[in-house]
Order: sequence, then structure tokens, then C-alpha cells
Amino acid sequence: MEIYGAYGKYLPEIKNEIMHKISELSHQIEKRDEEKLYEHLSGRVKQEESMIEKCQRKGLDLTPRSALNDCKDAIGIRVVCNFIDDIYKLVGLLKKQDWCDVIKEKDYVSKSKPNGYRSYHLIIKFNTSYPDINGHVPGDYYAEIQLRTIAMDSWASLEHELKYKHNIKNPEQIGNELKRCADQLASCDVQMQTIRQVIREYD
Ligand code: GTP
Ligand code: MG
Repeated sequence: MEIYGAYGKYLPEIKNEIMHKISELSHQIEKRDEEKLYEHLSGRVKQEESMIEKCQRKGLDLTPRSALNDCKDAIGIRVVCNFIDDIYKLVGLLKKQDWCDVIKEKDYVSKSKPNGYRSYHLIIKFNTSYPDINGHVPGDYYAEIQLRTIAMDSWASLEHELKYKHNIKNPEQIGNELKRCADQLASCDVQMQTIRQVIREYD
């Protein structure tokens, strides 16, 4: 089953173009502020099997339109920042870029998910040179950008690892422990932010 149809072949290239734009933006800001905007950047095209599973879960037809227009995270970009402030700085910058439109945002940084997950999610619309599902050339594609600190990324990665690799018999206890870890890491993020602020004030 190829849920992306004829559009699948464009997705890796579009993902690379978006990553390139973000890395250019970072170089620009690094020159201006003498500070890295993020620690690292990664991207992926959602595997067709995962997209099929998601469409089934959401009760959508298994078509390219569902995969590319109804779901907007076929392309996923992750930006891992050093400090909480950098997430908001980058969100602000992305909203001002003329090469993309932010069409949706979820701030799980200032308010975590109940399980402790923290991250800032943006859905962007990106104009490409490729045809899109609506027959437009140049066409528009969507991507999900996840912005998080190193600490938030560590937690999400470990939580994901535990959730998918193990058949958990005591979910409530494990959930509580994971939430505690998330809150401790969040507290470290705030301390680190404060330390940076203090260093700046004495500079
Ligand atoms: P999906 O249908 O899964 O895309 O969820 P959604 O459309 O409600 O989006 P949401 O913003 O909640 O989550 C999208 C993505 O964020 C997921 O695919 C994960 O990459 C990440 N994410 C969200 N919640 C969690 C979580 O509890 N743990 C981890 N490790 N990642 C999460
Ligand atoms: Mg999603």
C-alpha cells in the first residue's frame, strides 16, 4: 500500500528544503546574536505504514489526500534547542518568515501534556516547486515542526522507547514515575535558563 501515491517521491526533498531553510535562518541569527539558535535539527518522512495506521485511527480513507491534507505531519522536523527561551525565539522567527505560513500551534512547553510531555508544535504550510494534491503547481505541502529543549527531547525519547518496546503491567505507577522525571527535567530547564540570564547580566 502506497498511501502517498505519486506525491511520495517529493516528500524527502521537501523535508530537506525545509531543514535547509531553518539552518539558514539559524546561521543568520548566529551571526547577529553570537549564540546558537538550536543544538541540532532532524527530519523524517513518516513511514507509509505509520501514516496508514494514523488514518485508520482517525477514521480517514486511505488516500493521498488523507495522508497529505487531513494529516499534516507526513513531514516532521525536530529542532532541539539549548534553552527554553530559544524555543519561543525560534517560534517568533518562523512566524515572520515569508517562505512558510504557521497555520497551527500547540504549546506543550508552558503547559505540558498530563503525562509530562513537553514540546512546542507548529504546523507549517510550505510552498514548493512540486505539484500538490489539489492539482496546483507550484504546490503547497504541510509539515509538523517540533521544538524542544535537550531535556525535553531526552524525556520524549526515553518515554517513547519504554512505551513501545515493553508491555507495561503497572501503567499507573510507571506513568507517575515518568511524570516525576518530566517535572524534574523541566525544573532543570528553568534553572539553566536562569543561569544563562545571570551570566548575561554580569557580562
Ligand atoms: P497524532 O495523531 O499522534 O499526530 O497526535 P496529534 O495530532 O494530537 O498531535 P500531538 O501534537 O499531540 O502529537 C504529535 C506528535 O508529538 C507525536 O507524533 C509525537 O511525535 C509527539 N508526541 C505527542 N505526545 C507525546 C508523548 O506523550 N510522548 C512522546 N514521546 N511523544 C509525543
Ligand atoms: Mg501528529
